[in-house]
Amino acid sequence: MLSIDLSNKRALVAGVADDGGYGFAIARSLAEAGASVVVGTWPPALNIFNNLLERGKLDESRRLDRGGMLEFERIYPLDAAYDTLADAPEDVRTSKRYKDTGDFSIDGIATRLVADFGERPLDIVVHSLANGPEVKKPLLDTSRAGYLTAVSVSAYSMVSLVARLAPLMRPGGSFLSLTYMASERVIPGYGGGMSSAKAALESDTRVLAYEAGRRHGVRVNCISAGPWASRAASAIGIIEKMVEYVSANAPLSAPLAAPEVGAAAAFLSSPLASGITGTVVYVDKGYHAMGMAVQS
Ligand SMILES: NC(=O)c1ccc[n+]([C@@H]2O[C@H](COP(=O)([O-])OP(=O)(O)OC[C@H]3O[C@@H](n4cnc5c(N)ncnc54)[C@H](O)[C@@H]3O)[C@@H](O)[C@H]2O)c1
Repeated sequence: MLSIDLSNKRALVAGVADDGGYGFAIARSLAEAGASVVVGTWPPALNIFNNLLERGKLDESRRLDRGGMLEFERIYPLDAAYDTLADAPEDVRTSKRYKDTGDFSIDGIATRLVADFGERPLDIVVHSLANGPEVKKPLLDTSRAGYLTAVSVSAYSMVSLVARLAPLMRPGGSFLSLTYMASERVIPGYGGGMSSAKAALESDTRVLAYEAGRRHGVRVNCISAGPWASRAASAIGIIEKMVEYVSANAPLSAPLAAPEVGAAAAFLSSPLASGITGTVVYVDKGYHAMGMAVQS
């Protein structure tokens, strides 16, 4: 039978801090397919995540259909706003949640991966993180700083991850990021430059696929996921409305479930997708195909 086989592969999923988001669902699917999984967690969320794990609060969602539990081989601190530790301002480096974590930059996670697992530690990298401090503000009211932070954390971070990690990938390596349709159609309420960041992320998917494909032989793809009430999405303030709207208007009206994104991510990260790179794949119950709202 044709199956997704990721045994003997290691995946880094950047952007996991609980069991409520796409990153966790993707990590779980990769583990279902046999991959070992390390995660990168934002330092302000690291303690809470470790506590949830230690207290067994995530045990139910960590249980795998194939038996056993989703185990994280490592949980690395990662603030994707910084390429090197020296880029982080002094007040961040010395603040309560950062000071004892060691090097939390993108360069830092690359160095730790090599120290822990050798020169070629990775097969799969998933970028499942975003942050727009002014996401609740219309673009027209967004400050330059808010806009640039959204693009820096949510889009440039992918460029930086590919630049630093592609040379560490084993043959057949795959990068994947998560975007949202607000990059190409207006979603009122998805503000703060986050729509701009997602547009950049999608365009960069194509350019990175070409450049890193030629230079390192890796693939770079992106999933455009439908709305899901994760912790990050709840910060937008209108996520329930977005989920309901898509259910009411998409070709498939059952609400999107995070494991559906996880399964697509496992496929795209697997050797079965060896011919696919530079693409944005919709996992949104078909909503992107609609040109008119369904009359109730
Ligand atoms: N939830 C949705 O409706 C939806 C739809 C389409 C795309 N997406 C995308 O999916 C991805 C995952 O988001 P999610 O909605 O599953 O929420 P989530 O809360 O599970 O994931 C976002 C993660 O980003 C982390 N993060 C924030 N700033 C960071 C930084 N500077 N460095 C490192 N990590 C940082 C957070 O700690 C969190 O773990 C994001 O790219 C998001 O834009 C989400």
